[in-house]
Amino acid sequence: MEVIIQPTPEEAADVAAQFVAGVLEKKPDAVLGLATGNTPLGLYRRLIAMKLDWKKVTTFNIDEYVGLAPDHPQSYRAFMWANLFRHVNIAKENVHIPDGNAKNIPEFCTEYEQRIKDAGGIDLQILGIGSNGHIGFNEPTSSLTSRTRIKTLTEQTRNDNARFFRNEAEVPLHVVTMGIGTIMEARQNLLLAFGSSKARAVAMAIEGSITSLNPASALQMHPDVKVCLDDAAAQDLQWKQYYQSTYQNKPDWQRF
Ligand code: PGA
Repeated sequence: MEVIIQPTPEEAADVAAQFVAGVLEKKPDAVLGLATGNTPLGLYRRLIAMKLDWKKVTTFNIDEYVGLAPDHPQSYRAFMWANLFRHVNIAKENVHIPDGNAKNIPEFCTEYEQRIKDAGGIDLQILGIGSNGHIGFNEPTSSLTSRTRIKTLTEQTRNDNARFFRNEAEVPLHVVTMGIGTIMEARQNLLLAFGSSKARAVAMAIEGSITSLNPASALQMHPDVKVCLDDAAAQDLQWKQYYQSTYQNKPDWQRF
C-alpha cells in the first residue's frame, strides 16, 4: 500500500488526477471503477480539465441507491452524468451504473458481475471511505469476499448522507453495491480521503487489524493500492512520517 499525504485536499486531488491520467495514457481502453460522494469531485474536475480521451474507456460505478428514480438528483446515475460523464467524450454504452430499480435485484447483481468480467475486469478502482470504514456501500460486517448485492445502510451512513437530502428519512435504506471481493479483484485501487472526519476510519483501514468491522481494512490484502490523503485525514496515522519520507524519496522512475 502506498500512502501519499498532501497538505490539502486540492493537492491530494492533483496527485490522484495525475495518476489516473497516467493510467488512461498507458491504456486508452482502460476499465475504471468509479465512486460518488464529495471526495472524488475534485479528482473528476481535474480529469475534465485535462481533456483526456475517454472514447474507449469503460466505467463501472461501485454503488447506487435502491428505489430512487434514475433522474432523482441524488441518484448516483444523475451524480455521475452531472459531475463527469457529461463533460468528457465517453461512449454512453460504455458507462455502467448499478440499477437500483431493477425488478429482480439479485439477478441484476449477478449480471453486473458478469459484465465486469466480460469487460476484462477493472483496471483501476477509485474509492472513497465512509466515516465507518465502508468502501462502496459495504457497511461494517460485510463479508470480505462479498460480490455485488443489495445491502442495508447503517444509521451512521444514512445520517452522513442526509446532508444531500431534505432529511434523513428521505435517504434510501437499501443500496446495490459491488462487494469487497469485487473491489479486491480490481488490478489497482486508489482510495481518497479528506478531512478529519475520515481520520479514524483511515487509520483503522491502513494500520488496524483486518476485520469486517472496518471493511476498508481488506485493502491491506490487495497487492496494488494507493491512498491519497490530505493532512487532516492522515492525522491519526502512527506511521505518517514514514509514508511522507517514502513518498519524498521515491525514485523518479516510480513516479507517475
Ligand atoms: P463522501 O462519501 O465522499 O461523501 O465523504 C464517501 C463514502 O461514503 O464512501
